[in-house]
Amino acid sequence: MSSPIKVSPSASDLCRESDLMSLFRPAVDAMQGYLPGEQPTEAGWVKLNTNENPYPPSPEVRNAIVAAAEGRLNVYPDPLVKSFRESAAELFGVDAEWILPGNGSDENLTILMRSFVESGEQIAYPYPSYVLYETLAEIQGAKVARLPLTPEWKFDWKITDPRVAASKLTFIPNPNSPSGNRWSDEELQWLTPEKGILVLDEAYGDFPDKPHKAELLHSGIGKRMVITRTLSKSYSLAGIRFGFAVAHPDLIAGMRKVKDSYNCDSLSIAAATAAIRDQVWMLKNREKILATRERLEQSLRELGFHVTPSQANFVWCTPPGDNSGELYEALKARKILVRYMKFPYCGPEENELREGLRISIGTDGEIDMLLNALKQLAS
Ligand SMILES: Cc1ncc(COP(=O)(O)O)c(C=O)c1O
Repeated sequence: MSSPIKVSPSASDLCRESDLMSLFRPAVDAMQGYLPGEQPTEAGWVKLNTNENPYPPSPEVRNAIVAAAEGRLNVYPDPLVKSFRESAAELFGVDAEWILPGNGSDENLTILMRSFVESGEQIAYPYPSYVLYETLAEIQGAKVARLPLTPEWKFDWKITDPRVAASKLTFIPNPNSPSGNRWSDEELQWLTPEKGILVLDEAYGDFPDKPHKAELLHSGIGKRMVITRTLSKSYSLAGIRFGFAVAHPDLIAGMRKVKDSYNCDSLSIAAATAAIRDQVWMLKNREKILATRERLEQSLRELGFHVTPSQANFVWCTPPGDNSGELYEALKARKILVRYMKFPYCGPEENELREGLRISIGTDGEIDMLLNALKQLAS
């Protein structure tokens, strides 16, 4: 006689058991987890909430993916991602040993945290900015020093701050998200920890008026600086997940020990290499985005919004009635998605909030739809 079939409880049933939750490390148990922007799966949305590029990637990307798919997918990808490293190195004017490719820029931020920060050590980052740094620190059991920004998104000190000096890593998104402003090279000097590393997160580094390549790495503070870049934004490849770090080869060699062996897959390596080799395509899209950004900033000001001048592919603004949350909902009801952001503890008062809307630069048609909706809502 065959024995009765046992039905196992589903994974989600198991996770509901609170005694299982306590099996996690206390740091993981205590944390909220990072909440990414909404990604609707159905068509028909004007999607201006996660700073994707509204234009398609270079046609060379498609050709490269097809060729890679027809190639040898049964074997592991190149663990050192030589083709991409050589192309990125040429673009940045460094040797290939200065480049570490990753599964999105976020993976390199994780590798940095795991490489340099012990549990109990400190990281610093400007606040408000990219909340993921804090999430990664929580996973690692690290302490976080928020470097509060003024209402104009500036640092209010002119020498290296003790909170920075005491940090192992200082993460600086430049241009900053959500504000879009960019800090000067002088300010970056103050933000370099005395005994640690400055992580310059240049996810939006192709959009400023005068983008940097590796100039800062060759400056006085360059030896203890890691620049992170992504192909998600300027190269229109958010869907394939590819980023890279640029730093002194000694830092890259240490970080390589921490990454997964095959952290980039064959299709994304092919796509990213084709994309970075087609600078003409990327720069053409960049020009269109910058022109639309200028028009959006101007039109929002005419509608009475307060707009922070942007050096990125998005704009931070607050509406005249200070009703960002309501406006976000009203736009969403019209299938226009922008990012409503609310940051607590932004001022001397315990509960001071900073809230506003972060609007990604879409096509001209998408921005027209947004502006028309804003005008209707204002009337
Ligand atoms: C400041 C900043 N850094 C990093 C990233 C992540 O980039 P990736 O898509 O390469 O993981 C983002 C994404 O929005 C970002 O805003």
